[in-house]
Amino acid sequence: MIHTPVLVKEVIKYLRIRPEGVYVDATVGTGGHAKFILEKLKTGLFVGIDRDKYQLDITRNYLKAYKKKARFFQSNYTSLKELLKKLQIKFIDGILFDFGISSIQLETPSRGFSFQSDGPLDMRMGTTGKNTITAGDIINTYSRENLAEIFYKYGEEKYSRRIASGIVDYRSSKKIESTEELNRIIISAIPNNFYSVNISARIFQSLRIAVNDELDNISAGLNKAVGVLSKGGRIVAISFHSLEDRIVKNFFRNKKPELKILTAKPIVPAEEEIEKNPRSRSAKLRSAERL
Ligand SMILES: C[S@@+](CC[C@H](N)C(=O)[O-])C[C@H]1O[C@@H](n2cnc3c(N)ncnc32)[C@H](O)[C@@H]1O
Repeated sequence: MIHTPVLVKEVIKYLRIRPEGVYVDATVGTGGHAKFILEKLKTGLFVGIDRDKYQLDITRNYLKAYKKKARFFQSNYTSLKELLKKLQIKFIDGILFDFGISSIQLETPSRGFSFQSDGPLDMRMGTTGKNTITAGDIINTYSRENLAEIFYKYGEEKYSRRIASGIVDYRSSKKIESTEELNRIIISAIPNNFYSVNISARIFQSLRIAVNDELDNISAGLNKAVGVLSKGGRIVAISFHSLEDRIVKNFFRNKKPELKILTAKPIVPAEEEIEKNPRSRSAKLRSAERL
C-alpha cells in the first residue's frame, strides 16, 4: 500500500530538478513524491528523511530500483544539516516538505491516529529516541487548562473547554486507553445535535500536533533548509491546514531578501486531482528560491 502523493506535477515544476543535483525529501513517507524526483535524476543524489521507521521500511523496498542514487535516514528533518554532513554534502539544490501524516499512518489502527478505528492512544510519528510522549500521556495527565489550550491552539475547536472538562471528569474514575474511548468522551461532551465528525477530527489533529511538536518542527526545519540551500536552490512546502500554511507563508516573507517567493498565492490541486484523491482537497503548496 502506497500513500497517493499530492500536487506531483507542481512539486516537480517548482523543484526544477537538475539531473546532476542533490535533492532532499524531508518527509519522504512511502516515497510517493520521491519516485518522481528520482526519475529526473541522472548523476544526482536523492536524500529521503522520515521520522517513521515503518514508512521508511516500505519506501526502501518501493524505491529499490533507485538505490544507487538514494540515501535514507530515519530522523527528524530538523537534523538536516547533521544528516547531510554524514554524506559530506554542504549544499543542496532543492528540498520538499509534505507536512502532516500519510494515509498509511492514519489507516493503521495500532498507531492511534484515527478516531474512526479503535487503537491505543499513541500518535507518535517516530517511536524511538526522545520522542516518547504519547497522546495517552497527554490525555491522562495534562490539566484541564492545558488540554483546552491544545485543542484550541492546534485544533481551533470552539468546544475545547467542554471537551477538556469531559476528559478530566471521565479520567477521575478510569484511565483513558483507546481512540474509541476518547472519541466517545468527545461526543458526549458536545451538546445534543451540535456534534459532527469534524470535531473529533480537530481534536485528534490537535493531539497529533502536540505529541509530535509539529509546528515548532516546521519553523526549525525551514530554517535548516535555508541554511543548506545553494544559490538558486528551491524549497517546496505542502501544508494541509491553516496553522501549517501560516508558518510557511510568514517564514518565506520574513526571509526576504534571502529568499524569493515563487508562489504569490498558494498553489492548490485542480478539481480533477481532488476527485481522484479527496485527501488532496486541503493541500496548499508554496515555494521559494534561495538568492
Ligand atoms: C504527508 S506524509 C508524506 C508523504 C510523502 N510525500 C509521499 O508521497 O509518500 C508526511 C510524512 O512526514 C513525516 N514527518 C512528519 N514530521 C516529520 C519530521 N519532523 N521529521 C521527519 N519526518 C516527519 C511523517 O512521518 C510522514 O511520513
